Amino acid sequence: MKTKAFIFDLDGVIVDTAKYHFLAWQNVAKSLGINFTHEDNEQLKGVSRVRSLELILALGNVQITDEQKQEYLLKKNEEYLTYIDKMDESEILPGVMDVLNFLKENKQPIILGSASKNARPILEKVNILHYFDDIVDGNDVSNAKPDPEVFLVGAKKVNQTAANSIVFEDSVAGIQAANSAGMTSVGIGEKSVLNEADYNFNDFTEISKDFLLKLINQ
Ligand code: BG6
Ligand code: MG
Repeated sequence: MKTKAFIFDLDGVIVDTAKYHFLAWQNVAKSLGINFTHEDNEQLKGVSRVRSLELILALGNVQITDEQKQEYLLKKNEEYLTYIDKMDESEILPGVMDVLNFLKENKQPIILGSASKNARPILEKVNILHYFDDIVDGNDVSNAKPDPEVFLVGAKKVNQTAANSIVFEDSVAGIQAANSAGMTSVGIGEKSVLNEADYNFNDFTEISKDFLLKLINQ
C-alpha cells in the first residue's frame, strides 16, 4: 500500500461549527445595525476572522476604526468560545469517524488544514486531537485560503509532495487553495457550489473504503 497525505479542513468538514460562527457574527452585525442573513454567512466559510468582519462591514456599507475592529473581533471570538465550550463528540459530522479510522488503520498521515485559530481546542472538545499527525491552523500561516499556504505547509509536515496530498474541504476558497497547490480536492457539500473540486460528496457517509483505497494507491 502506498502512503499519501490526507488533509482535512475543520469547520464544516469535521464539525458543524458554521452555525456557531453565524450566531456570534449575527450579534456583531446587530450591534453595527447591519442585517446579516444565513445566505450572507455562506460567503464567510473558509474565510479568516478578520476578513469575515470586513465582509460584514461591506455588507452594511459601514466604516469603523481599527480599534473598533479589534473590539468586535474579540467580542465575536469570546461569544464563539462559549459555544465551543459546550461541544462534544456528538457534534462530529456523519461518517467522519469511519474515514479517520480507516485512514489510521492503513497508516495514512492525517493532517488538519484550517483557517481557524480555535482548531486545537475544538479537536480537544470533540476528542479527536490524537488522530492528527500534524495541525496547521490560522495561527501558523500568514496567507488565508484561497492561498494554498495552509495545505502546502501541512503536506510538508509529513514529508509528502502536493501531488501525493488529498484535501477534504467544504468551502469554495478551500477547494481553490487545494487546486492551486496541485493537490487532489474533495468537496464535501453541495456539488453546485463546490464544482471546482476533483470529487464531490454531500457528506462523509458517501465516501466508500474503495474510494479511499483508490486515492491511496493512485
Ligand atoms: C474557518 C471558518 O475554518 O475558520 C470561518 O470556515 C472562520 O468561518 C475561520 O472565520 C476563522 O476561524 P476562527 O475560529 O479563528 O475565528
Ligand atoms: Mg470549512
